[in-house]
Amino acid sequence: MSHILITGGAGYIGSHTVLELLNLNKNVVVIDDLSNASRESLNRVEGISGKKVTFFEGSVLDKELLSSIFSQFSFSAVIHFAGHKAVGESVKKPLSYYHNNVEGTVILVEAMLEHNVNNLVFSSSATVYGEEAEAPYVETQKLGSPTSPYGQTKLMVEQILADVVKSNNNFKVVNLRYFNPIGADKSGLIGEDPSGIPNNLMPFIAQVAVGKRPQLSIFGNDYDTADGTCERDYIHVTDLANGHIAALDWLVEQNNGICEAFNLGTGTPYSVLKVLKTFEQSTKVKVPYSFEPRRDGDLAAFWANAEKAKKTLNWSAKKNMEEMMVDTWRWQSNNPNGYAN
Ligand code: WQD
Repeated sequence: MSHILITGGAGYIGSHTVLELLNLNKNVVVIDDLSNASRESLNRVEGISGKKVTFFEGSVLDKELLSSIFSQFSFSAVIHFAGHKAVGESVKKPLSYYHNNVEGTVILVEAMLEHNVNNLVFSSSATVYGEEAEAPYVETQKLGSPTSPYGQTKLMVEQILADVVKSNNNFKVVNLRYFNPIGADKSGLIGEDPSGIPNNLMPFIAQVAVGKRPQLSIFGNDYDTADGTCERDYIHVTDLANGHIAALDWLVEQNNGICEAFNLGTGTPYSVLKVLKTFEQSTKVKVPYSFEPRRDGDLAAFWANAEKAKKTLNWSAKKNMEEMMVDTWRWQSNNPNGYAN
C-alpha cells in the first residue's frame, strides 16, 4: 500500500491538504515539529474526514527520524510544507530560516533519494519573482532577488531542487508558487491559527472582527493602485490544497527529469480596502481601521498569471472572495482562540 508523506502537515496549508487527500482515500503520513502548528488540527481533520492520519512529531532536520519513517512506509511522493514563513522574523533570524528551510529540504531530499522516493511537491512562493518583477507573474519570467531571507530560502530551494533533478534523472519536482492563501475549510473546524500578533492581513481582520484586537492598521493608502492600497492575489486555502493534488497527480504521470513550477493563484488582484469591504458585506461585521504608513518591503501590486496550472494541471481556483470571507469568519467566530479552545 503506498502512502504520501506530508511534511508540515499540521500547519495551515498542510492540514487543509491532508483533509483533501483523506477525502480522496489517500494514505497520509504527517511529520510536523509543531513549532507553528497544533496537533489539534489533525484531530479535527480526522473528525471531518472520518479517516486516520499517521503522525510523527519531529523535524525534517532529524535524519534518524526521517530514515525510520521512510523505512516503515512505501511512499509514492512527498509534499513538503515544513518551514518557517514569517517574512519579518526572517530578517531578524536569518540563520534559523536558512537552517530550517534550506538545510531541512536538503536533508529531506537526501532521505528521499536513499529510499528511492522520487516525486516531490514543494511549497514555494510568489516571492521568488523578486521585487522588480512586473505583474501578472508568469512562470517563464526570470526569477528575481527576494527581499527577505524567507524569500531567499524559497528561491534557493527551487535552485537546489533543479540541480538535484539535473544530477538524477529519476527525481521529479513540482514547485508550487503560492500567492496569498486565506480562508478555511467550510466545516469551520480548521483554519489559520497564527501565534501572537498576526503578520498577515486576513487573520488580522478576523481577529479585529472577533474583538481580540481594536482595529486594523492599513499599511499605506498612497500606492499607485486604484484605491491607493496594495493589491494581492488572494486564494482560498481549499483551492490551494486541491492545486497540490492536481500537481501531484500530474507529476507521477510524468517521465523522468521533470522540474516544473506552477503559480497557484486566481489571477485576479484585490486591494486591501476591497478585501475589507467584502469581509464586512459578506459577514455583516464591522471592522474599524485606520490608515498607517507603508510597511517596509511591501510591493504595490502583484498577482498570478494562472494559465499554466489551468492548461497543464487542469486546475483553477473555484472559490470567490465572498466564500473566502465567509469561511474565514466561520472558523474565527467558532474558534476565537484558534486551536487553544
Ligand atoms: C497583504 C496586504 C499589507 C497586514 C506575505 C509574504 C508572502 C506570503 C504571504 C508566506 C499588504 C496589508 C497586512 C495588516 C495591512 N508568505 N496589510 N495590515 O505581504 O502580500 O505576503 O505573506 O508564507 O511570501 O510576503 O501578505 O497578508 O502580510 O499583506 O494593511 O495588518 O495587506 O501591507 O498590502 P503579503 P500580507
